[in-house]
Amino acid sequence: MPQRDLNNMREQYDADILLEANCHTNPFQQFDAWFQDAIQQNIIEPNAMTLATVGHDGQPSARIVLLKSFDKNGFVFYSNYESHKGKQIQENEKVALLFWWQQRQIRIEGAVQKLDRESAMQYFHSRPIESQIGATVSLQSSIIESREILDEKYDTAYKAYANKVVPLPDYWGGYLVVPTLFEFWQGRMSRLHDRIQYSLQANQDWKIERLSP
Ligand SMILES: Cc1cc2nc3c(=O)[nH]c(=O)nc-3n(C[C@H](O)[C@H](O)[C@H](O)COP(=O)(O)O)c2cc1C
Repeated sequence: MPQRDLNNMREQYDADILLEANCHTNPFQQFDAWFQDAIQQNIIEPNAMTLATVGHDGQPSARIVLLKSFDKNGFVFYSNYESHKGKQIQENEKVALLFWWQQRQIRIEGAVQKLDRESAMQYFHSRPIESQIGATVSLQSSIIESREILDEKYDTAYKAYANKVVPLPDYWGGYLVVPTLFEFWQGRMSRLHDRIQYSLQANQDWKIERLSP
């Protein structure tokens, strides 16, 4: 295949200035302000975030998951505990999250913990039945022989669960990412972007610092 030269793909960033004085002292509030902006700007799936994990072997792995709630305790997503990410999280609780909303990027680092089963139960049963069955029949990240086998498993389960409550699989549930670091990045002219970092101190205060672009 030919080499694709992308040197001329260049976006002009011209977002407003991001000053420490205009940032919330609490990074969760700053996140919320930017999240509301992303909704206002009709960013597609603003709650789609990249989750990076690293297992014992030191090989990082990244994929998109959907942010399902957030508050001052952290960021919640749902997945399969036996998936590749689930296994890496079992080996190493340290993870990173990344949001990209056009001229803005938010980086989050911290540790992840499993959510309680009650929350998983509530969320699981709030999903469309098709999604519940999908999660039930998919051993996420395992190798499967063919698409047909997956479809057959789905059809069989769909019939079996007709008019029944789909049980929450043991291997499916929520995770809470508890941040220790946030970085808010805003694209500016001449590549002189604004980067405001919040790092959690031993006394639980958030220290705000500007990083060089
Ligand atoms: C927009 C989008 C949203 C997704 N949301 C989730 C999610 O909330 N949970 C999840 O487990 N996988 C989600 N996925 C699929 C993951 O990206 C990934 O394929 C899957 O979790 C398996 O990853 P793993 O093999 O690294 O564990 C989503 C993918 C996309 C593109």
